[in-house]
Amino acid sequence: MRSKQSIKSVNKKQLLKFITCGSIDDGKSTLIGRLLYETNSICNDQLEDLKAKSLNNKNILDLSYAVDGLSAEREQGITIDIAYRFFSTNKKKFVVIDAPGHFQYTKNMVTGASNASLALILVDSRKGIIDQTYRHTVICHTLGIRKVILLINKMDLIKYDKEKYYKITNSFLKLVEKFSFDEVSSIPISALSGDNVTKNSKKMKWFLGSNLLEQLENITLRSSKKTIDSSIFSVQLVNRPNSNFRGYCGKVLSGALTKGQKVLVHPDKISASIKNIWSGFNKSLKANVGDNVTLELKEDIDISRGNIITSENTDIEYSNMFQATIVWFSNKPAYAGRSYLLKINNKEVKCEINTIKYLIDITSDKKLYSKKVQTNDIAKIQLCTDEAINFLAYNKSKELGSFILIDILNYETLGCGMIEFQLRRSNNLHFQTFDINKSKRQELYGHLSKVLWFTGLSGSGKSTIANELAKELHKLGIHTYILDGDNIRHGLNKDLNFSDEDRIENIRRIAEVSKLFFDAGIVVITSFISPFKKDREMARNLFDEGDFIEIFCDTPIEICQKRDPKGLYKKAKKGLIPNFTGIDSIYEKPKNPEINLNYRYSIKSQVEYILKHLKLFLIN
Ligand code: ADX
Repeated sequence: MRSKQSIKSVNKKQLLKFITCGSIDDGKSTLIGRLLYETNSICNDQLEDLKAKSLNNKNILDLSYAVDGLSAEREQGITIDIAYRFFSTNKKKFVVIDAPGHFQYTKNMVTGASNASLALILVDSRKGIIDQTYRHTVICHTLGIRKVILLINKMDLIKYDKEKYYKITNSFLKLVEKFSFDEVSSIPISALSGDNVTKNSKKMKWFLGSNLLEQLENITLRSSKKTIDSSIFSVQLVNRPNSNFRGYCGKVLSGALTKGQKVLVHPDKISASIKNIWSGFNKSLKANVGDNVTLELKEDIDISRGNIITSENTDIEYSNMFQATIVWFSNKPAYAGRSYLLKINNKEVKCEINTIKYLIDITSDKKLYSKKVQTNDIAKIQLCTDEAINFLAYNKSKELGSFILIDILNYETLGCGMIEFQLRRSNNLHFQTFDINKSKRQELYGHLSKVLWFTGLSGSGKSTIANELAKELHKLGIHTYILDGDNIRHGLNKDLNFSDEDRIENIRRIAEVSKLFFDAGIVVITSFISPFKKDREMARNLFDEGDFIEIFCDTPIEICQKRDPKGLYKKAKKGLIPNFTGIDSIYEKPKNPEINLNYRYSIKSQVEYILKHLKLFLIN
């Protein structure tokens, strides 16, 4: 670096992280290049390289080369990541988060925006506000950024036209009226010729505001008035090398902690005080925001990973039902009724999306109603977690208010989310217990209750076998009830069709109904195609191990088509039934069902096979 500032002086300065949003041709790279160049933040060798590359260009440095790595990626069409660039001035140090602006990289932009406290929104003065400008503004606002600077670039190409500048600024101000930004400003610039970037432009004397660098230096960092200032520490690991030491390793998420300070340990809000703060093998008197330290408490308290320690005056929330905004990354859609892993801070809990309230159309900010959330969608949802978690609304604490959603089966990150508020219902609903319970009912019946979950294609034999099985169990004095796809779809589920989302809801309801019958002491026999692994898994997870028995009617589609008892395959092949399982809708075979039925055997012997398996389980 050509900068003369000492490392010590740089470390003391305030840090501002800002994101630059613009379309490819808006001059984003030139702008970042200029900021780096004029703050002496480009390394000497890089500068030489830049001069060499710009030689043909009438001795004008093409500053976009300074941030060229990303453009190269762009040209090759490979995955585009976010680039972080650093520069500092006498007043402040800066991280520029350069995120690709195009729609297909929404997830990168979301990641970038979640780390920024200010957004520079760049537009081409010849084009003005375009759809992308709107999209970038919506994303930044959704991710909690409350300060924006609109940069109207390429003013040289419109002859520094004041009228045009004000016209664009006014349409932007109109656009952001409905958002709750704390600060919005606008600057006419030319990144190419350096007007109003780090020096005030002589060609736009009519502009009385500060240049970009001055605005960046003078912006106040406290983002929102609502933001929490208290000290919050998240426990990542309990360190117990021997019986004399118990330390809690983790990170200070906000504020600072000092030796001797009184704290609260959540969720139980137990009072304690800090005995020591360890930074590696050294004791410290204080831990600041961002520090990774080990806390030793005076009191002996049961603390585990995911617990939160705060300063005494901090009230954080605790609930298992929330409204949140999610941004979906995966190419597998999200559906209401599906279960995911939710990771918030150091805690991982199972959760279920209860309701998809609406999608936010980021080109118009309108609400769109949908039963699924697809790649790059931003959606308002309601979700519940298996156990209550500590949190704060995202607008109060980015750390305690943001989470990611993970696929339970393969651990892929599917999306991220921001908690808006808890749904009070969770606090007001209590589980009522009754004296006559499942065990008493099972005692009365003289057998255990179970769920026998048949799955397989239409025509695979589910209902026929279920019927024969129920007859045999009846003879043995066992109380059964059959829940059958065709029947239930005439009543409880008559509002559902055969789209993926409705099949998911179909199975969710059946799983819940099965649970009620199971609790009633009955052997529940379900006969549904239940084509998706995840939903069968969700049903299984409602029960203890051994109580849910998956029975796979492993009949190949060719045989089912030959049987075609209801003539549905014939119709489906003629295109008369949309989304028919096995024709134009998928069936995911179970990998490890408790019972795998072979269609080559007679119905009688398949039933005997099941009974053999069940006898081990059914009698108390
Ligand atoms: S599931 O996929 O949601 O589990 P379910 O078992 O309730 O399906 O219903 C399947 C039954 O509905 C089939 O046995 C068949 O009789 C009938 N059906 C009507 N349309 C379809 C379709 N598109 N796909 C599969 N089955 C259908």
